Amino acid sequence: MPDTQRKILVTSALPYANGPIHLGHLVEYIQTDIWVRFQKQRGHNCTYVCADDAHGTPIMLKADQLGITPEELIQKVSQDHQKDFSGFMVGFDNYYSTHSEENKHFASLVYTRLRDKGHISKKTITQAYDPEKEMFLPDRFVKGDCPKCGALDQYGDSCEKCGATYSPVDLKNAYSAVSGAKPIEKESEHYFFKLGDFEEFLRNWVDKHVQSQMVHKLNEWFESGLQNWDISRDAPYWGFEIPDAPGKYFYVWLDAPIGYMASFKNWCDKTGVEFDEYWDEASNTELYHFIGKDIAYFHTLFWPAMLEGAGFKKPDGVFCHGFLTVDGQKMSKSRGTFIMAETYLNHLRPEYLRYYFAAKLGSGIDDIDLNLEDFRMRVNADLVNKVVNIASRCAGFIHKKFDGKLSAELSSPKLYQEAVTAGDSIADAYEKREFGRAMREIMAIADKANQYIDTAEPWVLAKQEDKQQEVQDCCSMGINLFRVICTYLAPVLPLVTEDVKAFLNLESLAWDTVKQPLTNHTVNKFKPLMQRVDEDKIAALIEDSRQTMEATAAIQAPIESSPLSDDPISDTISFDDFAKVDLRVALIAKAEHVDGAKKLLRLTLDLGGETRNVFAGIKSAYSPEDLQGKLTVMVANLAPRKMKFGMSEGMVLAAGPGGEELWILEPHAGAQPGMRIK
Ligand code: MSP
Ligand code: ZN
Repeated sequence: MPDTQRKILVTSALPYANGPIHLGHLVEYIQTDIWVRFQKQRGHNCTYVCADDAHGTPIMLKADQLGITPEELIQKVSQDHQKDFSGFMVGFDNYYSTHSEENKHFASLVYTRLRDKGHISKKTITQAYDPEKEMFLPDRFVKGDCPKCGALDQYGDSCEKCGATYSPVDLKNAYSAVSGAKPIEKESEHYFFKLGDFEEFLRNWVDKHVQSQMVHKLNEWFESGLQNWDISRDAPYWGFEIPDAPGKYFYVWLDAPIGYMASFKNWCDKTGVEFDEYWDEASNTELYHFIGKDIAYFHTLFWPAMLEGAGFKKPDGVFCHGFLTVDGQKMSKSRGTFIMAETYLNHLRPEYLRYYFAAKLGSGIDDIDLNLEDFRMRVNADLVNKVVNIASRCAGFIHKKFDGKLSAELSSPKLYQEAVTAGDSIADAYEKREFGRAMREIMAIADKANQYIDTAEPWVLAKQEDKQQEVQDCCSMGINLFRVICTYLAPVLPLVTEDVKAFLNLESLAWDTVKQPLTNHTVNKFKPLMQRVDEDKIAALIEDSRQTMEATAAIQAPIESSPLSDDPISDTISFDDFAKVDLRVALIAKAEHVDGAKKLLRLTLDLGGETRNVFAGIKSAYSPEDLQGKLTVMVANLAPRKMKFGMSEGMVLAAGPGGEELWILEPHAGAQPGMRIK
């Protein structure tokens, strides 16, 4: 145990319970997990909690679409999330849900304390309301034309074309993304958290507890003024009812961070840990949140202000990270770089990715790029060729010639001491989340170890009768260095760590154990610890990802343009569902370019008498004149969908990476427009 054992509570952001975990998420969970494992390895008392973020409109509507209850949806997603996390060795001490009794309790408690101190105000506001679905519409669920530049089919909060921000009531030709109905304006009383009451507190707090890169951004927010925050939503809403306001619910982002407390409370009740010791205003334990930069506003302004107002401990640090890109670009479904955790695990070891992220992560908020070629070469060069190689070069001799026994003394105590001393700087790098630096410094030790073995040439000495002691000595030295390196890599490579412990015959790879070298110590037979990353495996992963995304995109087609479908759940459909799909042969009577559309063609389809207007994203693959007069297959009973350029009344079937290859049939006697496909 260290001289002073710290008590640390760590969280990662709570993933939304409406979609699967992908490699972007994993940047955060792997980063946090490495930091937590490091603290534990150093002997600190570190607890890592997380939960699913289970409330809100998107989850309510998604359950609706799937024909299940929100409870069923969040239950299923929680299982999937936990499976993915454990597949990547993310070792939460507790994983919970914001839809829990504990969270209801703390959400109410925080709210009533804020209210009693005068930090809640009420105001009647006018909002877009879907008269068909009988619900108020969040901004993202209203679409229409930009009030400023006229761009068609924009979301209700901002225009992707001109960047204007506005209120959904200002949109022209507005429609509900939920039902398609024209929204009306409706009044309702809302509850607000008066963030401005905390301006002075926040200005001080932010300076000390947020990365400097982020403080910059925060200053912009301070300058534009801290607005009251709307924390209530009207029924129907999937969340907790506000205690003194029947029919009003807490906005999901109010109870989401409180979910950190709730998950920890749930852990306390299981283990007997004292909740107040960690959350009391005067607590001297440490609290850290790891988050993505997209949710900084919530964690660096609302959250500390809520805690301050409600009399709880504030975080000692909010650590923001950047976003993941793949091969230099945003993850893309059609390129196959939108990679789900589960898909990755079907092809590659989790530790490859853990190491690669570690090698690329710093303490700042810069985006990190997963370059697939660099990934393969880096992992092979560092982990396989450098680290594992040390053991494979030495272990055989020790096992065969010396019954697994290491020499009584180190042949180069100086080199060993250097490796031990380097540990201080490596630990400092881990502590400051400069994992890239930690990995570089560890690899520098591995380089020295390999040089040592290269110079000693045990394979040459082994052939000389009188050099057997030297063989044992230099291989023992190599294995000692290997052990130090693996100890430093343990936070990143938890599975390898277990195998190394078995090989070295050690109970623990705790940080400080390396001070004592392994002399006269017997090790076990060495088994290869890690295979090289194969080019074929990466190619298979990308292909699999592409197909997975296509399959889910097809199922989700009717809502593809709504914000719900950002993270589709991979699911099968029943035969009954399939039987509902009306597939028909259609004659492409007309195919035309659409003004202003980059990808779309307008198709006039003849179903043997009935004509349909369909927009298809196939412009990159076909000229309109090549399509006219051909037959294709369409989904004839898809609900009409309003698109930027008009109504689309169905969908044509396409193959390939998304809208590239249309299924075209040459007209012949056997296939007639309007014919049903069974
Ligand atoms: N539910 C909220 C967080 C509530 S915390 C009280 C949320 N969920 S999320 O599922 O969208 O994201 C979870 C975390 O993953 C966030 O910190 C987010 O920044 C991070 N990431 C999601 N996609 C990411 C990338 N592509 N790259 C890096 N991190 C990403 O936000
Ligand atoms: Zn605009």
